[in-house]
Amino acid sequence: MLIFTDKTMFHEISRISIRSIMTLKEINIRYKEYGSMAELPEDDRILAQEAVKATGSSYSPYSGFHVGAALRLSNGEIIRGSNQENIAYPSGLCAERTAMFYASATYPDSDITAIAIAASQNGEICRKPATPCGACRQVMAEYQTRAGKDLKIILAGTEQVMVFDKVEDILPFIFDSLK
Ligand code: THU
Repeated sequence: MLIFTDKTMFHEISRISIRSIMTLKEINIRYKEYGSMAELPEDDRILAQEAVKATGSSYSPYSGFHVGAALRLSNGEIIRGSNQENIAYPSGLCAERTAMFYASATYPDSDITAIAIAASQNGEICRKPATPCGACRQVMAEYQTRAGKDLKIILAGTEQVMVFDKVEDILPFIFDSLK
């Protein structure tokens, strides 16, 4: 390569041959898809219906987007939560975290084995599933790690339902260690 200096001289810098060490990698994400909640296996269908019910308690005057979450716990309980908004927007909380934090605070010795999420807008349950935000996925990851068992995620819309067997499938490269 030739470079021009302020002494108007050319210096030649020897060529360095750089061998590429980059490897292009791909990851696969697997999930099950159903055309409606009615097609789900019974336990998942019940949880999805509970998530739909939970949309009814959403406090979302700012977005008009009513999200419901329902959790199945290892003690057999089903817990519902919904998004709770605030005029100071960041003070609000998503449905998923509302439900998970309530469950963990109320039943600290029980694991969350599954979470279902649904949303409604303008009085109708959304046709396509609402996909959880990154912060909620990270919180799911924490409870899955604590439980040492997979946490199933059911994203329920009236015309599409997605089922992920574990949090890794919806949050690749989870931050799970301080090393
Ligand atoms: N919201 C949830 O409750 N869960 C999510 O995973 C994504 C978004 C809420 C937050 C806010 O109240 C509204 O949906 C619009 O973003």
